[in-house]
Amino acid sequence: MTDLHIRKIDFRFDETTPFQWLPSHPKFGLMANAISIMAIAFEKFIVTNTRAAIPLIKDPAAAEEAEAFLRQEAQHANNHRKHVAALVRQYPALQQTVDAAHASFDRLIETKSLAYCLAYTADLESTFTPIFKVMLDHEDVLFHPGDERVASLFLWHFVEEVEHRSSALIVCDAVVRNRYFRTRCTRSVFRHVMQLYRDILTGFEEHVPEADRRAEYRNVSPDGVRREELLARLPLRESWRTRLGMFPPATFAPASNWEMLILVYRLLLSQVPHHRPSREPLPRFADTWFTRWEAGYDMTHYYSGAKLPGGRL
Ligand SMILES: [Fe+2]
Ligand SMILES: [Fe+2]
Repeated sequence: MTDLHIRKIDFRFDETTPFQWLPSHPKFGLMANAISIMAIAFEKFIVTNTRAAIPLIKDPAAAEEAEAFLRQEAQHANNHRKHVAALVRQYPALQQTVDAAHASFDRLIETKSLAYCLAYTADLESTFTPIFKVMLDHEDVLFHPGDERVASLFLWHFVEEVEHRSSALIVCDAVVRNRYFRTRCTRSVFRHVMQLYRDILTGFEEHVPEADRRAEYRNVSPDGVRREELLARLPLRESWRTRLGMFPPATFAPASNWEMLILVYRLLLSQVPHHRPSREPLPRFADTWFTRWEAGYDMTHYYSGAKLPGGRL
């Protein structure tokens, strides 16, 4: 039996939702906005492929996991659509960027096998627990100071990604039945993911004024993050970092060198054939979030939301 809970939470966004929702760490805020657009396109792709996979799954427990997995992802996509729609209302040309992200996944569905699409999902989902652990371990810096509605959306999504960390792999294994297949797909999967991420950042650069973004493509592109995280961790004077075109704080500024090394190690580990996400170290914040949910708090305003009378469970 699956342990996943389908939490239907109705997040609300409007024209007061700021594009740069985390002015204290604008590079992280910009990266998170790119994740919001990726989420709606990727999660639609997950729902389509998982739905196609379910009739092929013989193990009832795996089929049940697949069903719960796609229902959680559908909830995520619903709420990210609302977040992105609020941004598109303010910067209408951003719709082109959203459409391009959808088209990019539609092309994968049209041109690749179901096995490849399931491997794609398993590969990418396997990276989420280590990445989101680093982010959630610094929730006080990377979420709390931001716009509460947007921060709450990401907190909910990321803890549920940790909760269903094994689901995509269960679905992929049940259909593909070859643990080496997804590892063989890794290089092509991440080439696609990174291109999509770069295209979204380019869209931000073109359609959102710099004054509203407060961070640039060169800060948060894959190369930019690598460069800035390295520079931020070298014993350089601040004036040198400024001369090198880097304005602090870097995207993952609150994470220590050790945490970043562990992250790289765990990302590599996530792609090996016999990786088991169930053995991953988890962010402590996830338990805090689930406890608060069960107690019946309004999770759309994680930090200030009131408790429902009588709790939730
Ligand atoms: Fe999700
Ligand atoms: Fe997911």
